[in-house]
Amino acid sequence: MRGRFITFEGIDGAGKSSHIEPLAAWLRERGHQVLVTREPGGTALAETLRKLVLHQPMDALTESLLVFAARRDHLTRSIQPALDAGTTVLCDRFTDATFAYQGGGRGFDLHVLSQLEAMVHPGLQPDLTLWFDLPAAVAAQRRAAVRAADRFEAESTTFFERVQAGYAARVAAHPARFTRIDALPPQPEVWTQVCTAVQTLLR
Ligand code: TMP
Repeated sequence: MRGRFITFEGIDGAGKSSHIEPLAAWLRERGHQVLVTREPGGTALAETLRKLVLHQPMDALTESLLVFAARRDHLTRSIQPALDAGTTVLCDRFTDATFAYQGGGRGFDLHVLSQLEAMVHPGLQPDLTLWFDLPAAVAAQRRAAVRAADRFEAESTTFFERVQAGYAARVAAHPARFTRIDALPPQPEVWTQVCTAVQTLLR
């Protein structure tokens, strides 16, 4: 049986990444084979592209092409073979992030992004996308407390409000595969929401 493809989305500071390894452990305890990966990244080439996207100045088209190039390599070398082998793939961000960041945040043409999406992963969408929803102002406070900013994290709260709107639009366009996670409560409460969503998928 083909493996499940689960993606994690949300603005920087929403707290999604801290739930991925615990979810992998939770699934392994239940007998699942699990691959944990991330975008941009997940292969040697895609990790190299990640460094460029996160740290080099570039326009929105270049950014979009690079994240999709990274995605193509990641998909063909890692995600698709894992899914074909029956492995559950937990991926920290996927194409919804491109619609949210390049489309929403940068204001880049959504039609071009849809064309790239159709070219890079025809017929493949996540089985479940957990959208960690947190107000942009709260996420900014959480980010400031923990790490040095890359090109995206250094953006304004207004930018992240546009990214947030980009995610909301994507959820409205694909309601069946999204589960909204309220990322405001303390971590144990967020974890319970994550487990419930994944249990519902596996049922
Ligand atoms: P991360 O910090 O969650 O690993 O994500 C890296 C950054 O890359 C994050 O700020 C969002 C950004 N990004 C895009 O702008 N477009 C994309 O398609 C992806 C996958 C990430």
